[in-house]
Amino acid sequence: MAGYIPQDVIEEVRSKADIIEVISEYIPLKKSGRNFKALCPFHNEKTSSFMVSPAKQIFHCFGCGAGGNVFNFVMMHEHLSFYEAIKKIAAKVGVKLPETTKKNTATDSLFNKLLRANELAMLFFHRQLMESTKEAASTRAYLKSRGFDRNAAENFKLGFASAKWQGLFEHLLKEEISDKVMVQAGLISPRQGGGYCDKFRNRLIFPIFNSYDKVVGFGARVLEKGQMPKYLNSSDTLVFSKGKNLYGLNVAKKYILDKDRVIIVEGYTDCIRAHENGFNETVATLGTALTIEQTRSLKRYTKNFILIYDADEAGELAALRNLDVLLPEEVMPKIAVLPKGTDPDDYLKNSGADSFNGIIENAKNIFDYKLQLLFKKHNVSSAEGKVKISQEFLPTLAAVTNAVLKSTYIKKLAEALGVAEIDILSELRKFQKSGYRPEIKKSENKKKNIDLAEKILLVIMLEDNTFIADAKKKLSIDDFISDDIKPVISKVFELYEENKKVEPAALIDELSDEESKILISSISLDIPEIKDKKKNFSDCIMSIKKRVLNLKLKNINLQIRSAQQNEMSDKLHELTKEANFLLEEKKGLIKK
Ligand code: CTP
Ligand code: MN
Repeated sequence: MAGYIPQDVIEEVRSKADIIEVISEYIPLKKSGRNFKALCPFHNEKTSSFMVSPAKQIFHCFGCGAGGNVFNFVMMHEHLSFYEAIKKIAAKVGVKLPETTKKNTATDSLFNKLLRANELAMLFFHRQLMESTKEAASTRAYLKSRGFDRNAAENFKLGFASAKWQGLFEHLLKEEISDKVMVQAGLISPRQGGGYCDKFRNRLIFPIFNSYDKVVGFGARVLEKGQMPKYLNSSDTLVFSKGKNLYGLNVAKKYILDKDRVIIVEGYTDCIRAHENGFNETVATLGTALTIEQTRSLKRYTKNFILIYDADEAGELAALRNLDVLLPEEVMPKIAVLPKGTDPDDYLKNSGADSFNGIIENAKNIFDYKLQLLFKKHNVSSAEGKVKISQEFLPTLAAVTNAVLKSTYIKKLAEALGVAEIDILSELRKFQKSGYRPEIKKSENKKKNIDLAEKILLVIMLEDNTFIADAKKKLSIDDFISDDIKPVISKVFELYEENKKVEPAALIDELSDEESKILISSISLDIPEIKDKKKNFSDCIMSIKKRVLNLKLKNINLQIRSAQQNEMSDKLHELTKEANFLLEEKKGLIKK
């Protein structure tokens, strides 16, 4: 299990390590102006889009969107957990890590507090299951009856939540976790009329770990038939998101690397059963279709994805449509099909590992699989059928970024339909012109979406913290129009309030979600050096305020029009006054 390092030690390690020195040990860096450049180690490229800033101690790749500080680089490059990366760098720079401490320190971020509360909850549930208490006897019997042994429970840290209303609550209080943190971790809920109750009661617990071995959430299964819902999962919290996390990844990741493939199933029990049968490279999507975020986290380990469908679902082409959005990520999804009505858990239990292996070996790539389904659905001997097959196949073709792969399947489709390749190509062009665009990579998206004034303002504040006070006085978070930048700005304000130094590399560790981290590295390396900070700063504030005022005015004018139409004279009077006030404010802004 991962250890725990106090915040000030993390900061010491980060400030002693030089990102240029550390990254140079892995890849050759070339000086380029104020920054360093390299071929990105995280994706294939011929021209360097990987940048490192010695001044800001961050890196960002403008090709694949990877970015972060020195810890993130080592984590990604060596597939290490946050803890492991710090340990490694600490040894390099000669910082001694303290023995694991039990308590949170005041300087701990909320993020760390939630992780600690989760970890303690996991240990509590796990102990309840493993110790031979009477309460958990039926749960142990249930696991046994399904063929899950002690080893499986140990590997996946399964647990038992008793029927008590405040079992976990009281335990965590003893560990000096505040009720506020417990609520924010989604472990307890406020009760009507005051007090709290445990969220998970009388259920079998599946802790969900992130890839760095931290407990981020829980899935909880009922023990008795008929109770609803069958699974109760953690709701999204600061540290957990159902569409981003993958069950079992913490255990599976080293096997995924070794075998250079990942098997993707739907359910918790499917995943555990697969591991028990030697398919340790298996993860589960928590019951939903594979998302882009999950794809991005998996492709750090392998590009060979094997998705297991049961025939019911696979019959639905709709399920496949989902996969088109993964193709621009340049992974190769294959589909393995189980007999109708069975899931991997049932299948492995009834037919065994060899038979399951046969199913995996028979997995078809998404193109062949989709073509096969389309040929079943439409009559290829009729012209109409040919048109339909090609039309339904176009989105998949359009999503492929690799030219060789694309032309291979254009050729295959043309042959199968008995038409000329050029005709498929021209239909594809028409289709792409008609507005279909495969999803572009997030980081490129981000660059486009964020208001320039807001970006420059952020860079100035990070380069010179004295500007933060002024920005805080003049703007509120709601004045920022780009949703993605809001959490970053509010973190900047918050850290400033706490008298902390706010620098890009430190800020990255303070933020919990990957997207905010990457936003900082991309903006920081994207905006050229700002010479006259003072002037640029006031221009940005002005531009943001003007936009806010214009929006308010537009809104009031709409209300005025409706008040006029409805002859509401009092209201009209009031609104006009407000509009004049805003106009004055705007004038004042321009004069300044
Ligand atoms: N799931 C969920 N909430 C539900 C039902 C399902 O989150 N109410 C998710 C769980 O991650 C579950 C997966 O969807 O593991 C697959 O659901 P299902 O096939 O119904 O359950 P199994 O995993 O097969 O569980 P079991 O074999 O214990 O019935
Ligand atoms: Mn099942």
